[in-house]
Amino acid sequence: MDLVTGYKSQSGTGLTTKGYAMSEEKWITRFIFLESVAGVPGMAAGMLRHLKSLRQMKRDHGWIETLLEEAYNERMHLLTFLKLAEPGPLMRLMVLGAQSVFFSGFSLAYMISPQICHRFVGYLEEEAVITYSKAINDLDNGHLPQWENLQAPQMAIKYWQMPEGQRCIRSLLLYVRADEAKHREVNHTLGNLNQTDPNPFSAKFKVRDALSQLEVDGAKKQF
Ligand SMILES: [Fe+2]
Ligand SMILES: [Fe+2]
Repeated sequence: MDLVTGYKSQSGTGLTTKGYAMSEEKWITRFIFLESVAGVPGMAAGMLRHLKSLRQMKRDHGWIETLLEEAYNERMHLLTFLKLAEPGPLMRLMVLGAQSVFFSGFSLAYMISPQICHRFVGYLEEEAVITYSKAINDLDNGHLPQWENLQAPQMAIKYWQMPEGQRCIRSLLLYVRADEAKHREVNHTLGNLNQTDPNPFSAKFKVRDALSQLEVDGAKKQF
């Protein structure tokens, strides 16, 4: 991915090394490629678990919705960045190639060991967090002047409900990075669980937790 997107890690020779300094265009290229790949695992895993549930006529314990939600979130990252750049035919070809290889490889691996796959995705998400942190750092250090006064696309403002006064590209990168950090947490957690364990991130459990918190708060008030 680093080779395809002309990226070199800041450790070692550094991003500012001649030929590897990241411009706005290079960052967007990296974001688009990264997000086009990042949207695959959630959908592949969700689909496989859905099919398994149908086939075995057993419950999934709330994993599918979280996985599909992750895939949707990644696709929104991609669609947002596509508002800032138009990928050329070569990029589209690389995305096509990467998707074919990654989707088949990941699906096969998920059928063999879902736990290892979630762990792998957890580490990929950590890399995504590092990428966005470095981009924010570049922006803060004045290396990305075109983004300093640029507004986030309308689609992003609506999706993340970005408040007035916090709709710049820096805020957008902070929102995206927060999503990646959540994906990292979710995937590392799913990697720790057994396949029949309930998904702790399921909306059903979130509602139950919120209700029990309300009950605790209510009990405290009465006391
Ligand atoms: Fe993403
Ligand atoms: Fe992610």
